[in-house]
Amino acid sequence: MSEKLSVSPSGEKFPLPKPEDYKAEFENLKKRVEKERSKGREIVVVMGVGFVGAVMAAIVADTADKKGQPTKFVIGMQRPSARSYWKIPLLNRGVSPVKAEDPEVDPMIERCVKKKKTLIATYTYDVLKLADVVVVDVQCDYLKESLGNVRNGRTDMAALEASLGVIAEHIPADALVLIETTVAPGTTEQVAYPIMKKAFKKRGIKTDPLLAHSYERVMPGRNYVASIRDFWRVCSGINEKAKKRVVKFLNEVLNTEKFPLTVMDRPIESETAKIVENSYRATILAFLDEWSLYAERNGVDLIKVIKAIKVRPTHSNIIFPGPGIGGYCLPKDGGLGVWAYKHILGFEDNIFKITPMAININDTRGLHVGQLVRDALRNMGQPIAAADVLVLGAAYREDVGDTRYSGSEIIVRKLTEMGAEIRVHDPYVEHWWEFEQQDTYPGVGQSKARFFRNQEKLKETRIEQDLNKALKGAEAVIFAVPHEAYLNLDPDKVVKTIGQPAAIIDCFGILTDDKIRRYFQLGCEVKGLGRGHIQRIKDEIRKG
Ligand SMILES: NC(=O)c1ccc[n+]([C@@H]2O[C@H](COP(=O)([O-])OP(=O)(O)OC[C@H]3O[C@@H](n4cnc5c(N)ncnc54)[C@H](O)[C@@H]3O)[C@@H](O)[C@H]2O)c1
Repeated sequence: MSEKLSVSPSGEKFPLPKPEDYKAEFENLKKRVEKERSKGREIVVVMGVGFVGAVMAAIVADTADKKGQPTKFVIGMQRPSARSYWKIPLLNRGVSPVKAEDPEVDPMIERCVKKKKTLIATYTYDVLKLADVVVVDVQCDYLKESLGNVRNGRTDMAALEASLGVIAEHIPADALVLIETTVAPGTTEQVAYPIMKKAFKKRGIKTDPLLAHSYERVMPGRNYVASIRDFWRVCSGINEKAKKRVVKFLNEVLNTEKFPLTVMDRPIESETAKIVENSYRATILAFLDEWSLYAERNGVDLIKVIKAIKVRPTHSNIIFPGPGIGGYCLPKDGGLGVWAYKHILGFEDNIFKITPMAININDTRGLHVGQLVRDALRNMGQPIAAADVLVLGAAYREDVGDTRYSGSEIIVRKLTEMGAEIRVHDPYVEHWWEFEQQDTYPGVGQSKARFFRNQEKLKETRIEQDLNKALKGAEAVIFAVPHEAYLNLDPDKVVKTIGQPAAIIDCFGILTDDKIRRYFQLGCEVKGLGRGHIQRIKDEIRKG
């Protein structure tokens, strides 16, 4: 039988562990933990070493006392699926399993693994038997069944529920279990607690599990580490003992002197805080979608309008939405709340209006970019069908390599449906799995491909990382993400590299009026989300 393999993003192949490997792995772990305990170190198991867990594990492993001595020994635990197993051998080499633009991430992981020797990773659930603290960083997804209707979806907590069951079957009775996963409100007390209590009973443990919740506010990007360690946290526990333990733990591992903890009475309040926090953000972004269209149709530059409003301190967080609101959190968190109201908390009425509407608007905002590209090409006498369109930026925001739910995905899918030939450039993204593996990513039957026609060929999508190569011959160029590499491009050089005038589409307000003017002078057509004044610039040039 052929060996089962897990392949890292750089293409390195790792054979999955075999049943006979588990025993030896656990024996090694036991010896190592005994040694670390004798040094007075607390044993922390971080479950799920993805975007959040990998960096959180390193932050905990980096914790030291006043004399600079490490106080925690951290074991990242990751299930050995073909998709994720490679993260374990990489971590054990001191290599970060997540690609990060924050210069702190790579050296921190290397330092903890190789120098301080406070961080390792494993695939065996038995490691939980050795834990003083378990930090849960596995995903909890919200699966949408249609495009632009978040109500028609459901929470998928299979991975989280499975993890909690396994944790309760293995941990010592007095281990703290800290759920950091963003969950549907009510989960800690009404889903996690019963699962764990039942497993505890089976094991003859009479005490309650020490369950706590504290959500992550991590922002992958330049301040990845700081957004976990040097940032405010909200937490709670299911009882006084759990609450005290979680406060103690977070005070030890995070910079709570400068960024104090907020302790809530009950986990549902901490869970709700996360959902409201992200729904608020999703809402203020969605709100500008209608004004963006209004601006395009009435000669208004929404970018300048926002700048004018922002100077007023009470309105300083008004932000231009770009071609869609992605990332792992904003598109789903409101959905978790709306779903929980009915399916965990048991209400049948429909009190939520704004939260689902905001997500629906954000999820479909990118579709309009298809119309802008179509119209710009038409003005140049060319149909969208078979046009060579270059999308600049695949990530969900500037200067990160995370493509989850990015607005660019919708742009690519819509334009492909309209018959365009798409090429993509992104300096931070090596593989766009949403396309390359759309049959199985983010899950079987879950790809947004199913909401569009003509998507099959997108499996061939490969990211070009050389901008000049990418630009060559493009008939339309879409500035989809404001990555640094795109901010200061000179129109003359761009058009020269392309080799002909092209349709230029600005989705993020990155083109100054001078640049827009220059592109027109060079024979290009320019359009932009929320940038109605472009027509005026075009008229000026025509008259002049
Ligand atoms: N990524 C972000 O920017 C961000 C920000 C704030 C909060 N969050 C929240 O943090 C949580 C984790 O998100 P993420 O981005 O790290 O997800 P992720 O998918 O990158 O990581 C989850 C990891 O858990 C592993 N896993 C799943 N089931 C497991 C099991 N039974 N045992 C062991 N490991 C298991 C997966 O293989 C994966 O490696 C989510 O609730 C998310 O909403 C994420």
